[in-house]
Amino acid sequence: MRSANHDRARTALVTGAGSGIGASFAHALARQGRHVIAVGRNRARLEALAREIDAEVLVADLLDEHDLGVVEQRVRDGVDILVNNAGYTTYGSFPELEVEHELGQLILHAAVPLRLCHAAAGSMPSGGRIINIASLAGIAAAPRLAAYGASKAALISLSESLHHELRPAGITVTCVCAGYTRTELQARAGVDASALPRSLWHEPEFVAEQALRASDRGRALVYPGRLTALTGALMRHLPRSLARQAAARTYAMVTPLDSGAHAAS
Ligand SMILES: NC(=O)c1ccc[n+]([C@@H]2O[C@H](COP(=O)([O-])OP(=O)(O)OC[C@H]3O[C@@H](n4cnc5c(N)ncnc54)[C@H](OP(=O)(O)O)[C@@H]3O)[C@@H](O)[C@H]2O)c1
Repeated sequence: MRSANHDRARTALVTGAGSGIGASFAHALARQGRHVIAVGRNRARLEALAREIDAEVLVADLLDEHDLGVVEQRVRDGVDILVNNAGYTTYGSFPELEVEHELGQLILHAAVPLRLCHAAAGSMPSGGRIINIASLAGIAAAPRLAAYGASKAALISLSESLHHELRPAGITVTCVCAGYTRTELQARAGVDASALPRSLWHEPEFVAEQALRASDRGRALVYPGRLTALTGALMRHLPRSLARQAAARTYAMVTPLDSGAHAAS
């Protein structure tokens, strides 16, 4: 790990920085001239990223209490941008999924961001920014992704409340309700989502760029992409029973890569 002796007003910590949306954040923040602290479990990937953008590597499993404590302390030591991005999804019939993997999503997408937001809120300078990566799946019910949807719904609520509460301290909290993004998320969950229309998909670079722009503007919520925004608006305004059915129809287009239920490792 590189030295932590950097300007805390120009330091960004990104969880899940080794791939997908997190890696795109890391690249974008490095291009802004920030010192990036890249957090994740896969050391080789983080070190490859660090060679590209001269980042600091912090290998941590955020579901491990000791590791989470180390990351919390690193946030308290001084960052001006915190990106809570690490995540995974499971897919399938709820009773058939492993309960530990279901619960892990609630912890990783809700409890872990809560802990890191708390560490940041007590230490960030005015002008600090927190970006929480939620999902359209948190807007309405998410049949076959029940725990994922519930965890992202909790993150949206937490983020909106903190956006309001931390504003007087000069800290902006922005929640990103991302739609389908071309990353490893679905493959890691053992599902094939290629039957979903191409127009629903975005690149991770686009999601990170839209999120950073929304954060610059001090926005509480962002839906990256026009169709994502439209879908979000529909899901929020439809009667809940209709939103539930629409979500169920969409998620039914996602199919397991094989007959077994999977969870991300
Ligand atoms: N892709 C989509 O369609 C989509 C849509 C909406 C929202 N999102 C959200 O976007 C975020 C990023 O996901 P992605 O799409 O970029 O998928 P991804 O490429 O699989 O990235 C997820 C990252 O989270 C890290 N991670 C997972 N469990 C972790 C743990 N216990 N401790 C530390 N790091 C952990 C992984 O790194 P390691 O394996 O190295 O630990 C990985 O780098 C997630 O919160 C996801 O829910 C994705």
